[in-house]
Amino acid sequence: MYMAQHPLRIGVDYYPEHRSHDLWERDAQLMQQAGFNVVRMAEFAWVNMEPEEGRYDFAWLDDSLQILANHGISAILGTPTAVMPAWVARKYPETLATMSTGHRVRWGVRKNNCFTSGAYRLLSERITRAMADHFASTPNLIGWQTDNEFGGPVCFCDTCRAEFQDWLRTRYGSASLADSTLDQLNGAWGTFFWGQRYNTWGEIQLPEDFSGHNPSLCLDWQRFNSWLNVRFQADQVHILRATCPGHFVTHNFMGLFSELNYYDLARDLDFVSWDNYPVGDAPSFKYDAATAADVMRGLKGKNFWIMEQTAGAPGWGQFGRNPRPDEIRQVAYQQLAHGADGQIWFRWDTCTAGREQYWHGLLGHDNKPLRRYHEAAQVAAEYRKLEPALANTTIKTDVAIIYDYESIWAFKIQPAYGSSLWDPSARGVNNYHNAIRRYHRALLRAGMNVDMIAPSNDLSKYKVVFAPHLYLMPDDLAVKLSEYVRNGGILVCDGRTGVKDATSLMHPRTLPGLLSDALGISIEEYEGLASDMSYGVTGTNGFTGAYTAIQYADWVTAHGAEVLAQIEEWHLENFAALTRNRYGSGYGYYAGVNVKEDAFYDALVKDVMRNAGISPVIAPPPGVEASIREGAGRQVLFLINHTEQPVTMRVPEGKSELITGTPTTGTLTLDRYGVAVILLK
Ligand code: GAL
Ligand code: ZN
Repeated sequence: MYMAQHPLRIGVDYYPEHRSHDLWERDAQLMQQAGFNVVRMAEFAWVNMEPEEGRYDFAWLDDSLQILANHGISAILGTPTAVMPAWVARKYPETLATMSTGHRVRWGVRKNNCFTSGAYRLLSERITRAMADHFASTPNLIGWQTDNEFGGPVCFCDTCRAEFQDWLRTRYGSASLADSTLDQLNGAWGTFFWGQRYNTWGEIQLPEDFSGHNPSLCLDWQRFNSWLNVRFQADQVHILRATCPGHFVTHNFMGLFSELNYYDLARDLDFVSWDNYPVGDAPSFKYDAATAADVMRGLKGKNFWIMEQTAGAPGWGQFGRNPRPDEIRQVAYQQLAHGADGQIWFRWDTCTAGREQYWHGLLGHDNKPLRRYHEAAQVAAEYRKLEPALANTTIKTDVAIIYDYESIWAFKIQPAYGSSLWDPSARGVNNYHNAIRRYHRALLRAGMNVDMIAPSNDLSKYKVVFAPHLYLMPDDLAVKLSEYVRNGGILVCDGRTGVKDATSLMHPRTLPGLLSDALGISIEEYEGLASDMSYGVTGTNGFTGAYTAIQYADWVTAHGAEVLAQIEEWHLENFAALTRNRYGSGYGYYAGVNVKEDAFYDALVKDVMRNAGISPVIAPPPGVEASIREGAGRQVLFLINHTEQPVTMRVPEGKSELITGTPTTGTLTLDRYGVAVILLK
């Protein structure tokens, strides 16, 4: 298994096949001068490596790898299956995905293959094996990236339908095929509704659109499609492990993208990498990049890499804003602070051809090493200084948020509430992510690090667990959460928690179902609020402030729980907006409404932290992010300014600021987009 020998890897995504050969030597020189030690290559170069079926040409890549090696640069190679060569589509048209309309997609873009096509799976295994055989002993090759950004497409061809039916049979059929009935599936999907009962597996159809079909069918279809991607990757991983045992295998994930169960996709890999593009819209606190980083670290519970990172203005047809001076550096440090041990900018040059002409790299179309290149080089030089302190460090925290793909999918299928009742574009995925954001952001503002974890994780190592919008809740999970509270944990739940079972049937119980005792409440009624509706909310019993409930309201009755905030409407005066319940030696909190103001979540987090007896090492001023990496007896504090004004703040005195190499006095000023890295111990 791969062990990091070099604590920090830093470099670029590099496409020598996009560039004339006379630039290759200069490219490598400039990379070396910038202090880079790694590139990722070849993930779209299938046709360059296999120009026609079974004829391989790796000479160009050997050449490029050798030039890079001469300059001390290592490489990661991508298996090139995200883009099929034209000959694949021409010879094996069934490799192209079929849309829900029944039409096959036309060749010419990326991610257009069917994952059950036998031909595609075979061709994918062949090119993977040919690459693995050829590059197994290339000295400067250190690892592999599978495919590129798994996530699609969803294919509606007959093979996919047959495999789906088969997959269902393994899940719901009996062990003996001879007497395999559909009773279990009919029960699990509730096919008594609208007369949907199935008599044979072959009757099962694919749900073309999630707004009209049976939610239980949709959920299994989503699970199946996720599994198809995981299976496709596993076939490649299997080959790479057998032939290249000394290389790591990773994949470039996409942060908060949630069409696949990323926990499953990460399981076969050595570590997770992800693609981070937080620059484009108006400058603001880069909250989502922090949330995504914590999700990515949580997939395997260990540090991760950035495989693609903003290097310039992003765009395909039109482009967004350019990273401002020091912002490329700030983006890198934010990820380093959350556990990124590899940092690769996308991309080296800005391509003169193709769909991504406007996706800007470190070099522009003119190939000159200008401002963005120099800023990246500065980061690389600084990383060298930080390496010793960061070796074997990661984030350790008492606070976790449960991040659950199954609940996300249940919201995707039924958003539960939205701006307008019949608006098919109501985005359930956003309902879920916004719930996550409300707590994660408040914790960031409080200066707390957060682990994002799967529902299956061990909860006992956390003092506080937030479980926002945990829509899908099998009974064993509800029991686990209740036990966590009874044993002294603090659990925070909110709207739509525990509504559905594992196959998306409603639990036939008064909400919050099996969590009623732990939370000390019952919810007999609830409602979605149209976009022109809101309810007043007022704090009580020491929880202060006046707030606004929007989008969603549970009518919460306290049974033993203390009411911390009340809904201020004539018809809801007996109902609570926020409750806190003593249960066993822990507390169960419940927020029954979505609140507009950040201040509500800041106050809630404060109350939770007080009861948990935890406080941040440093409470950052507004606009500044604080994060701590620790391990091997060291504790390293990162401070990151998200604003465009200098910010002065109090910091522990007499510690070493590692970038400048100077001792801290009691105060520290961060420039706009400035960062500081302080060795606390
Ligand atoms: C990523 C992708 C890259 C490139 C980049 C810019 O999502 O992995 O190959 O397309 O976006 O569009
Ligand atoms: Zn298909």
